[in-house]
Amino acid sequence: MSYNDLFIRACRKESVDRVPVWYMRQAGRYDPDYRKIKEKYSLLEICRQPELAAEVTLQPVKRLGVDAAILYSDIMNPVASIGIDFDIVPNVGPVIDNPIRSAGDVERLKPIDVEGDLSHVLETIRILDRELEVPLITFAGAPFTIASYLIEGRPSKSYIKTKTLMYSEPAIWYQLMDKLGDMVITYLRAHMAAGGKAFQLFDSWVGALSPNDFKRYVLPTIERIFDELSDLPQPKIYFPGVASGELLPVLGSIKADVIGLDWRVSIAEGRRRLGGAFAVQGNLDPYVLTAPMDVIEAYARDIINDGIKEPGYIFNLGHGLFPEASPDKLLGLTEFIHRYSEEAIARLGRKESHHV
Ligand code: CP3
Repeated sequence: MSYNDLFIRACRKESVDRVPVWYMRQAGRYDPDYRKIKEKYSLLEICRQPELAAEVTLQPVKRLGVDAAILYSDIMNPVASIGIDFDIVPNVGPVIDNPIRSAGDVERLKPIDVEGDLSHVLETIRILDRELEVPLITFAGAPFTIASYLIEGRPSKSYIKTKTLMYSEPAIWYQLMDKLGDMVITYLRAHMAAGGKAFQLFDSWVGALSPNDFKRYVLPTIERIFDELSDLPQPKIYFPGVASGELLPVLGSIKADVIGLDWRVSIAEGRRRLGGAFAVQGNLDPYVLTAPMDVIEAYARDIINDGIKEPGYIFNLGHGLFPEASPDKLLGLTEFIHRYSEEAIARLGRKESHHV
């Protein structure tokens, strides 16, 4: 099989003969092969063994036939290098013993040393660059989303401690955003040098902010990250996470190629709010995968019909896969997207050539 660059072409709004698809959290507990490996090793133990991390990254590509791989890692991994001890607790998420609460806590954060502390990540990327026949997406957590774990100490629903710091101690907040921004820039640049073919910045929880607060407290750092990485040729994705529909109108200044949408806005409405500059990615509600196959297909058909109306569309879920997802339905969905989008794009082409 020759190299499949559909995903890269769609990021660049080039023509494609079918819609590329990958899934956030496509390597994970819904996959029985992954669960077998997890019986022996924790997430962090897998990440520290490049051969194994590469194998886990490849599993969904082989099982599902998706058009891109996403590096097996976690958004928390780089924070070990800036001096934060954390653990990823099963069924909970990232947990930090000494959360960040004061100016001193932020001052103590060190610059990231990717080669020194995270060489296993770069080695995993190099292995995958040799083995993959689809593009490798690498990723980082965005400053707000990482800060929410660093400040709360564990997953939160209200982000009360994060917002308390943000509103009450803006100088500390901005210093934290600056340091996490620097971390992300250095980390992603190293990924791209090691062979990454695109990256996604995951801002999973930033939808907890109003558009004005997003603009004031977060957007400057997001702009800086994409500005400083704009010399890189690889496509760049910003995913503003769940409930981010209201933020879309204020993202226009970000030098990303693609914006990820959650399922609360349609693809057409998302594009309208973004103002047309970006390719878009998304946005099936992951829990639609609990429905019978014909219902899943009907949802996917509507999303694809919307997506292919303009160049630059990548199928994905509106958020990550969940552990109870059925591998069979996921395979069925992937095959459906490939088959249906190819027919639909061909039909569209015929209609357009008929017009001229
Ligand atoms: O997408 C992929 O397949 C690549 C791997 C990946 C993981 N985490 C592995 C993982 C990616 C892209 C992430 C990113 C990540 N991690 C995000 C952003 C994406 C999102 O979902 O919004 C966030 C917020 C985290 C933090 C985190 N890590 C959470 C909330 C959890 C879930 C805790 C749980 O057990 O339910 C984790 C753990 C984690 N990271 C798992 C995986 C496969 C599940 C637990 C495990 O298998 O050990």
